[in-house]
Amino acid sequence: MTKTQFPEGFLWGGAIAANQVEGAWNIDGKGMSVADVASYKPHVDNKDYAAHTHITLEKIEEAIADQTDTWYPKRRGIDFYHHYKEDLALFAEMGFKTLRLSIAWSRLFPTGEELTPNEKGIAFYIEIFKEMRRLNIEPIVTLSHYEMPLSLAMNYNGWADRRVIDDFVRFANVCFDHFGEYVKYWLTFNEIDSIHRHPFTTAGIIDEKSPKGLEEQTVYQALHHQFVASALVTRDAHLKISGSQVGCMLTKLMTYPLTCAPIDVELTLKKNLENNFYADVQVFGEYPKMILADLKRRNIQIEMAEGDTEVLKEHTVDFITFSYYMSMAESGDPNAERTPGNTVLGVKNPYLPSTEWGWQIDPKGLKISLIELYDRYQLPLMIVENGMGAMDVVENGKIHDPYRIAYFKAHFQQMKEAIDEGVDLVGYTSWGPIDLVSAGTSQMSKRYGFIYVDADDEGHGSYNRYKKDSFYWYQNVINTNGASLTE
Ligand code: BG6
Repeated sequence: MTKTQFPEGFLWGGAIAANQVEGAWNIDGKGMSVADVASYKPHVDNKDYAAHTHITLEKIEEAIADQTDTWYPKRRGIDFYHHYKEDLALFAEMGFKTLRLSIAWSRLFPTGEELTPNEKGIAFYIEIFKEMRRLNIEPIVTLSHYEMPLSLAMNYNGWADRRVIDDFVRFANVCFDHFGEYVKYWLTFNEIDSIHRHPFTTAGIIDEKSPKGLEEQTVYQALHHQFVASALVTRDAHLKISGSQVGCMLTKLMTYPLTCAPIDVELTLKKNLENNFYADVQVFGEYPKMILADLKRRNIQIEMAEGDTEVLKEHTVDFITFSYYMSMAESGDPNAERTPGNTVLGVKNPYLPSTEWGWQIDPKGLKISLIELYDRYQLPLMIVENGMGAMDVVENGKIHDPYRIAYFKAHFQQMKEAIDEGVDLVGYTSWGPIDLVSAGTSQMSKRYGFIYVDADDEGHGSYNRYKKDSFYWYQNVINTNGASLTE
């Protein structure tokens, strides 16, 4: 590599999730997923993430009764189901070395409990992987990205029930058996830590179905089941697919002390330890002692079955992946000004600008995260989500998005610095390289893409794809393996 370039073979690409792009929510045998009941709420403040992601049993039942997609944008996505060839061709044109995508569990197992998979679902993903192979795009597959079968949520309260582990292991094994010849990189759970921020989206947990007063404990129990499932499928991937690499996936919520007052520093330290806990379990194979002490103090009891400790210890991950969008601060002052981030409400950092959704833009925080994670885990790292949600304007068929280019450029420069300082960063996939439906607000108008999709929040539009200015910019970054960043 020349000094200005990224390491040879660096995996540049983008990341999408089935529930936010595929659409085709009720055809070819797909069952309903938890994403299919997430509604677009035009009258709710877009910075109020909790109001967008919290869902009651009544709302779920209302959604099940409504078989249209009018208020449920994830049911239509960007119709990737019918556009995937065109979209993959655009990714290839940008020079993508990799694409991170997820498999919709309910497309393979409509209720989650079938013993054999839906053949049409299998056929759909095989076609995608074949096309990717033809285009030389390496797949990175997430097994669980906010799309568990709704029926498991309704009948079992999702991951709160240990029996769901078996359903997931069956699903994952079908993926390994059918897609293993195409897929080497696997991620188990997207942002496994997010279970605390939106238990329904992440784990199918419905408040009304959790024992009263034990809601928090229920979430931790479900998390434990996910940890065990993650270890079991890591074992199976390793057994079934030679050369496979399995990663964990964390929301990196970088937090700084607002001031150097020791209380701010202590609170920040604790926040960051809590944020690392999820990767700790998947990398070191055990719960950190201080987390166990904290759970005890809070009287939260996690039921562990015989053998769980060994399973966690024996089947740890091969690499670490994370999403990084923003950072935040922490303070001992209860009146410190707050601002929203990726499904969090953090203390506002006076040194950082924010997006229209209040997320604080912090490229340096990405470098700090890389150094911190590499130092802690000593395993290869991949950034599998990063980007900036923005409202784009179409002018005479063109989309000029200098703000997006500036965001990426600053983040890529920080990645390069971290690599030069010794961090083993092996890949980068931007979030939503093509516009897609927002996970948090179900908006279409919160756009992340290099490719514009002509659709609005209510689903109107041609669904035609257009290249933004950033498309050509990213293409150049990839073609020069990052050298263009210093030109
Ligand atoms: C990540 C999720 O947390 O953030 C993605 O893994 C999501 O699914 C992304 O889309 C951005 O969040 P939002 O709410 O802007 O779509």
